[in-house]
Amino acid sequence: MNGIGVAGKTVLVTGGAQGIGRAIAERFAAYGARIAIADVNEEAGAALARTLAEAGREALFVRCDVSRLDEVRGLASEVRAKLGPADVLVNNAGIFPRADLMGTDEAFWERIMGINLKGAYLMCQAFVPGMIERGGGSIVNIGSTHARSGDPAAMAYAVSKGAVVTLTRNLAKGLAKHGIRVNCVQPGWVASEGETSRLRATGTDPDKLFAEASARLPMGRIQTGEDIADGVLFMASGLSSQVTGQVLTVDGGLSLR
Ligand SMILES: NC(=O)c1ccc[n+]([C@@H]2O[C@H](COP(=O)([O-])OP(=O)(O)OC[C@H]3O[C@@H](n4cnc5c(N)ncnc54)[C@H](O)[C@@H]3O)[C@@H](O)[C@H]2O)c1
Repeated sequence: MNGIGVAGKTVLVTGGAQGIGRAIAERFAAYGARIAIADVNEEAGAALARTLAEAGREALFVRCDVSRLDEVRGLASEVRAKLGPADVLVNNAGIFPRADLMGTDEAFWERIMGINLKGAYLMCQAFVPGMIERGGGSIVNIGSTHARSGDPAAMAYAVSKGAVVTLTRNLAKGLAKHGIRVNCVQPGWVASEGETSRLRATGTDPDKLFAEASARLPMGRIQTGEDIADGVLFMASGLSSQVTGQVLTVDGGLSLR
């Protein structure tokens, strides 16, 4: 890719129906990419694909649970048939329920790892052959600053995101010979639909909490989905053609504390 170089490329975003994933899909669409959205939320995913199509973009929604091999394989076939092999894969689908060590039972652990970690591995396995055929591609995994800082109250989540960084570096090393770059973008704190409803469910006022957190951050605010989308766009574009196996932290300075 030269320059931004995403126009006309096929970009697949998992968890693209809402939150950070939706902002990523919209950002790539604005730069002329063909968008495939994979999500378990059929209503929101299909609505976004319709909105993008009405704005003149090529957009496809496929219902897919990224933790299920059969569904990921079905997704790969459908995207290939309708848009061709993906040039860019954004592994964004993720869940973030919180529990400490003693509050984490086996099913809880396996659910988080199944979506946040195994989902990314299954997606890479399904989409890398098409990238090899095309002579290259770019994979961007969405991590979290929890990977480095840890969070004892969200133990399995932090571990899953740490493993996403290891997956990123590992695949980057193995796939560079095929012209495939693999990078990670780590958001700090984003007022996404998922995060807002998680906070509401615990009786917390999200707006109040986000305002307090913003005041404490070096850059003065928590992040938006668009902030993260800009990082992903950079990592997937020709502007980062010699960058692979790296982590880009988009956190307004949170991790400097
Ligand atoms: N919001 C934050 O503060 C924050 C911070 C750091 C990292 N992240 C990461 O960013 C990513 C997106 O988070 P968000 O805040 O936008 O969340 P969100 O809940 O608003 O959106 C997540 C999307 O993923 C989809 N999804 C969930 N399970 C899925 C599955 N099994 N298969 C396919 N799709 C599935 C959901 O339906 C939803 O559309 C996640 O990986 C999350 O861990 C978020």
